[in-house]
Amino acid sequence: MYDTFRSTVRFRKFEADPVERRLRTAVTVEDLRRVAKRRLPRGVFDYIDGGAEDERTMANNAGGFARLEFRPNVLRDVSAIDTHTTILGHHVPLPLILAPTGYSRIADPQGELAVARASARAGVPYSLSTMSTRTIEEVSAVSDGPKWFQVYTWKDRGLVKELVERAADAGYEALWLTVDTAVLGRRERDVRNGYAFPPELGPKTIVDGILHPAWTLNFLRNEPMVFANVAHHAEHGTRDAIPMAEHVMKNFDQRLSWADVEWLQSIWDGPIILKGIQTVDDARRAVAAGVQGIGLSNHGGRQLDGAPAPIELVEPVAQEIQGAAAVICDGGIRRGSDIVKAIALGADACSIGRPYLYGLGAGGERGVDHVLRFFREGVERTMALTGRTSIAEIDRDLVRWRDR
Ligand code: FNR
Repeated sequence: MYDTFRSTVRFRKFEADPVERRLRTAVTVEDLRRVAKRRLPRGVFDYIDGGAEDERTMANNAGGFARLEFRPNVLRDVSAIDTHTTILGHHVPLPLILAPTGYSRIADPQGELAVARASARAGVPYSLSTMSTRTIEEVSAVSDGPKWFQVYTWKDRGLVKELVERAADAGYEALWLTVDTAVLGRRERDVRNGYAFPPELGPKTIVDGILHPAWTLNFLRNEPMVFANVAHHAEHGTRDAIPMAEHVMKNFDQRLSWADVEWLQSIWDGPIILKGIQTVDDARRAVAAGVQGIGLSNHGGRQLDGAPAPIELVEPVAQEIQGAAAVICDGGIRRGSDIVKAIALGADACSIGRPYLYGLGAGGERGVDHVLRFFREGVERTMALTGRTSIAEIDRDLVRWRDR
């Protein structure tokens, strides 16, 4: 009996490292999300996880991928899979970019530094947000991997110009200009939790902190969180997060227009990607304006609820612009197979936001490694199972809409 038992089961070695133990239970992005939910205070998790209003757009972003089905080819030699591709003239190991997300230290004290290190290890471009909690220079000091910088435009164009120049000096290769944030979307979980900007401390947030002592201790032990890139511009003479957040929100420029795209081109030599394009018309206009990238995005469903799912825009936009700019599909990507689907419809690359933040919240830097490995293996496996050995072989014939 013992021999039968021995021949059919193998005991799993006990994992002494708690981070590894946690990550071992996270087989998917959804699993990582669950681990992050357990570890982070409710208000923090909801800030990362939530979307605008009824969260319909957020749900449709991911839901769009479920409406696509593969038409796999078999009996092709798939013993050597190559996931390398070129994005904006740079050779990358995977058609994947880490999207900019502000305030990353909320998920882990290392914040943007942890994400930048992990993405450099994977060779995947990391996008640093204007609203980051680590500076442009701090991030470039820890990462020799490809780095992009994301620009929000404030009324104070001098500040924007300063950030762009600092990004150029620090070796960032491309700029995202975020264009879907004229005003902030209404993220109702944040409103409910009192996690609006500026954050409000009430009985609920205090209880939340007490229930998550590991996070709270880390938060209190580390230096205060500030919007690191812009903190020196605070009018209030303080670097504290709360007055700074008020200051920043007051200074978003609602007059942002196509003329500003031209202005940005005049102060930056490298590629510019407009992040938040949501119609074919605007994609055409962006190409006419001479930008190098179209970021099909609705900010992960955090801005306009009712905005279209980026995956649904990929094909019409790619057909319209015929390679005149790179097409990046951003929002709802939760598996390697989603990346393959977007490429099949005509995207050049995809970008992810929440998945790596869940990784960061679940296991810090190693959690981000974990999520990047998950996406790479997912792309490789999907390519093998669909009979495609290179990114160039991922063609339109590979997918069909189930309901069209
Ligand atoms: C974001 N996003 C974002 N975008 C941007 O241009 N500047 C920013 O500072 C932020 N900040 C930010 C914070 C958090 C917590 C999230 C979740 C998202 C949007 C982000 O770049 C990206 O568009 C979405 O996250 C993509 O959707 P998924 O991958 O999260 O579904």
